[in-house]
Amino acid sequence: MLKITQMDFFEKPESRVETGDWTFNGASTRELTHCYHDYPARMIPQVAGKILDLFGGDAKFLFDPYLGTGTSLVEGMVRGINVAGTDLNPLARLIAGAKTSTPDLRLIDKHIGKFGKFVFDYTPSPLAVPPTIQGVTRLEFWFKKSVVEKLYRLREFLQSIEDDSARLFFQVAFSETVRESSNTRNDEFKLYRYSAEKLAAFNPDVFRIMSQKLQRNRTGLGKYLAIIKNSKHAPVSNIYSFNTVTGIPQDCIPPAGVDIVVTSPPYGDSHTTVAYGQYSRLSAAWLELKEPDKIDRKLMGGFASKKFSCFTSKALNFAIEQIGAVDKKRALEVSAFYVDLYASIANVALTIKPKGYACYVVGNRKVKGVVLPTDVAVKDFFEGCGFEHVNTFTRVIPNKRMPLKNSPTNAPGVIDSTMTNEYIVIMRNA
Ligand SMILES: C[S@@+](CC[C@H](N)C(=O)[O-])C[C@H]1O[C@@H](n2cnc3c(N)ncnc32)[C@H](O)[C@@H]1O
Repeated sequence: MLKITQMDFFEKPESRVETGDWTFNGASTRELTHCYHDYPARMIPQVAGKILDLFGGDAKFLFDPYLGTGTSLVEGMVRGINVAGTDLNPLARLIAGAKTSTPDLRLIDKHIGKFGKFVFDYTPSPLAVPPTIQGVTRLEFWFKKSVVEKLYRLREFLQSIEDDSARLFFQVAFSETVRESSNTRNDEFKLYRYSAEKLAAFNPDVFRIMSQKLQRNRTGLGKYLAIIKNSKHAPVSNIYSFNTVTGIPQDCIPPAGVDIVVTSPPYGDSHTTVAYGQYSRLSAAWLELKEPDKIDRKLMGGFASKKFSCFTSKALNFAIEQIGAVDKKRALEVSAFYVDLYASIANVALTIKPKGYACYVVGNRKVKGVVLPTDVAVKDFFEGCGFEHVNTFTRVIPNKRMPLKNSPTNAPGVIDSTMTNEYIVIMRNA
């Protein structure tokens, strides 16, 4: 009897026609406003840019249903395309908003000058009442006392900036300053405190970190604005907070109104893959962004299913069955993620114009030793919505740090070898 293996459900490699290099080994991923802020599982701008150059030639409206920090939006805007995106994480929206906004550079420079004076004039003055930061229960556990004082004064400085776009520019630099001056390990996306030994020698210079971020971001912004200003058409950006799993408001994204979707959904639920909420928690709390605590449960796959679903993807069903044979609970968690991904795709599909494109950059993580064929599932889900498969490109992730940072396990420092590839799935509406 013939034994069925997981490979029987994958496309044969020869059907995957390559279009040159998708690896972009050595390319700088921090040009323009892409330099602004780190974020877990960021898409590299070159991938979004190449997708747009290949499939977005005539596009006038781009939508990203998992915006993150807005990589695809920035790439759309520098090509003169109007863009919109949504994300449930308020910190992601804040960063994406800053990266796509077009503030007056003279105003930014004026405030950078004021910041210099603020630092020059600063004299340490213990806070009269120990500050409480809503959302951070043990402030002194996550920050040294001297750091709290400086962050607090810095936040007062930010609050004194009246112009919204200038304040936003400063908030993004402040967010990174919070992260880098906190007692958390910077190489992890979850909140892990430094060891006692490391902590004893840890003495971050808060104002210096902030100053470096501001200078770096100012350079990126200058280059970004120069491109936008030379654009024949001034592109518009809109950032939303709706959940594409439950529905897409028509007044935000009109049905059949999108020319191209360029996006990278999460690899899996936040609990077992990237904890976006945890990554953002300290910054979001200092910035007083709403709901930082509950995010991870609201993101895709936040709630485990009670029963198994049968998907319109044989490869996916087979993989979930294999996991279920060894661990039913994990299989139900995995299934919940794909239930949400399917619902989201069904909603996204309705926003795309006839002949418009859906371009999803995905990773195939491994659970209990079983590879989850997310690339095939995305293709199958869109095909179920009347789309045709144009191609799936394979990108070898060149940077050794990427798989580590995108660790599908959430265990500190653990690398999974399956995450050294990502897949760019291109679908076209009928
Ligand atoms: C892989 S990241 C996107 C990264 C982005 N392409 C970038 O370059 O920064 C996935 C994003 O999906 C968001 N997300 C997860 N579930 C969501 C949902 N149901 N609705 C909207 N956004 C969601 C997460 O908050 C996260 O920011």
